[in-house]
Amino acid sequence: MTNKNHLSEAFKQTKHQIVGHGRRDIQTLKEALKDIDGQQESDMYGTGKIIDDFQTKMARFLGKEAAVFFPSGTMAQQIALRIWCDRKGLKKVAYHPLCHLEIHEEDGLKELHHIEPILLADKNRVIQLEDVVGMKEEVSCLLLELPQREIGGQLPDYKTLVSISTYCREKGIKLHLDGARLFEVLPYYQKTAAEICELFDSVYVSFYKGIGGLAGAILAGDESFTNESKVWKRRHGGDLISLYPYIISADYYFEQRLHKMNQYYQESIELASLFNQCHSVSTIPSEPVSNMFHVHFDGSKEKVEAILIDIYQKTGIGLTGNLREVNKKESYYEVSIGDRYADVPKEELKKVFDVLDKSMRAIS
Ligand SMILES: Cc1ncc(COP(=O)(O)O)c(C=O)c1O
Repeated sequence: MTNKNHLSEAFKQTKHQIVGHGRRDIQTLKEALKDIDGQQESDMYGTGKIIDDFQTKMARFLGKEAAVFFPSGTMAQQIALRIWCDRKGLKKVAYHPLCHLEIHEEDGLKELHHIEPILLADKNRVIQLEDVVGMKEEVSCLLLELPQREIGGQLPDYKTLVSISTYCREKGIKLHLDGARLFEVLPYYQKTAAEICELFDSVYVSFYKGIGGLAGAILAGDESFTNESKVWKRRHGGDLISLYPYIISADYYFEQRLHKMNQYYQESIELASLFNQCHSVSTIPSEPVSNMFHVHFDGSKEKVEAILIDIYQKTGIGLTGNLREVNKKESYYEVSIGDRYADVPKEELKKVFDVLDKSMRAIS
């Protein structure tokens, strides 16, 4: 068994796990369906009451004219950027070097749509107005990912968002929001979803991250944009004959969890502060701005994995099943707070950090 398996096995065997909502098992769907009338008609190839109602609900919530349900954010966002590029007749977009399209989609944007990305900003920080103003090349669209997941979920401040939005409108650059975790950042901004989305021409949100549904995404914008996106959805094979398991679960967990985003955010601040009190451990950002952050260890992956496994066995509390190497002397993992954190006994949690602090001292 590799170390990684040791860690993930030890994690699975703990009584309490402090991240996420729970196991991704079939019960997630069964629960969402429990009060649904079985005689209801399925959606059919992107039409029907179930999909129409949810799209209308989300368009309203996001303050946009219209919305379209997609099986994945990957599909929705490539299509959004394609539409903006076609409209301007320029196949260039700008985004962060660590955004999802650049590092997790096997170059779909380049291979399928022949769109060239311009990478903005240093990879360890978020895009600022100066990066946009200083762009040497013309682009059709700028994509902002809020929060910027791969750097611990950092965010630009609201003033920066407004200034980027104003600048893009003046220059005829469309602004697209990768809001995979938009719901999760609303408590930090103290804004409604519609107030944030108002700054953007098109918006994508996800239903299986903080919301915890099965899968699925909404792409929203004005009606001519969303109508065009439906054509591309058909071309991409995204019009599954029935999407209702995804739509019903998206709606169910949206209702269950939207109002808990502030709780997750506050819990994430609390948890980050516990990590930051430990020797050779720090979080990025130092104070989280959403339910997520990264935990960095001044210790090799091998050594820290051994420490984590020991903690799991001593306390019955699991922190992560997946530690990643930064270099030979540092390692990190991503935290995303969901329903589980509230169930972890605080006294037990204190023990975790006592052991972590001592063990990190011992290896430094
Ligand atoms: C920031 C961000 N954008 C886009 C996506 C793509 O979403 P999907 O898995 O629905 O394709 C993800 C998925 O993890 C993401 O984290």
